Amino acid sequence: MVTGLDDPQLANIALKTGAYGYIIKPFECNEVLIDVANALRRRRLEIENRAHRDELEQMVLQRTESLRHALKGLELAAEETIRRLAIAAEFRDDETARHIQRMSMYCALLARLSGLDHARCELIRIASPMHDIGKIGTPDNILLKPGKFTPEEFKVMTRHTDIGHRILLGSDAELLKLAATIAWTHHESFDGTGYPRGLAGAAIPLEGRIAAIADAFDALTSKRVYKPAYPVAQAVDLMQSHRGKQFDPALLDTFFGSMSQVTAIRNQYADSQVTS
Ligand SMILES: [Fe+2]
Ligand SMILES: [Fe+2]
Repeated sequence: MVTGLDDPQLANIALKTGAYGYIIKPFECNEVLIDVANALRRRRLEIENRAHRDELEQMVLQRTESLRHALKGLELAAEETIRRLAIAAEFRDDETARHIQRMSMYCALLARLSGLDHARCELIRIASPMHDIGKIGTPDNILLKPGKFTPEEFKVMTRHTDIGHRILLGSDAELLKLAATIAWTHHESFDGTGYPRGLAGAAIPLEGRIAAIADAFDALTSKRVYKPAYPVAQAVDLMQSHRGKQFDPALLDTFFGSMSQVTAIRNQYADSQVTS
């Protein structure tokens, strides 16, 4: 900036608003040439600086994106490994991969309807397929028995909850902690008559109470070695008769209050063994 005003305040404002120099008239030609050369050099440095910064920002964005992609891949791989392990356990009896999917979707639905946040619902959806992982430790002659269990056999069968809990216990990962809780508590009854610990009411973790309803509903409406698939209405009646006994009454009301969403899951993951 070239001016006739020798005013420090004005000079300050001029420099602040982007002037590269402040020359007071009358001026020497050399003075202007030096200021212009300095200004040009400063401008070139600024341009180079900006380009470098843009390049760095771009690199950070790319790295963040590939990291996000890798993490997502890991998450999916973990989820799939869990599902396949759970299916491996279920394959030992006549339950199907579809049972695992429907049961976990019912769990997530009921969790969402109970007001749990999205992250918790997702955790429940991914953890719940492992509810029967302890069946790995149940002998075939009991696991595959079509008739009624003797009291001794029943006792052996109930151990799948403790075995599942032991398999999943001790991890720092929230997902495995939750899976251990569900494996341990999905056969507890609201009135305290369930197993393995005979917990009652709110002493049963919410996720265990949710899994109990989801698992029973799908077991009833699917064909098993020991029973045909019940029509939905019959399954609902049967479960209602255990309202407040086996099942948390409020959760059961919530579940059956959203039958259209339950049916949507049932249809989406239907297998040939399921009838309506
Ligand atoms: Fe079970
Ligand atoms: Fe199950």
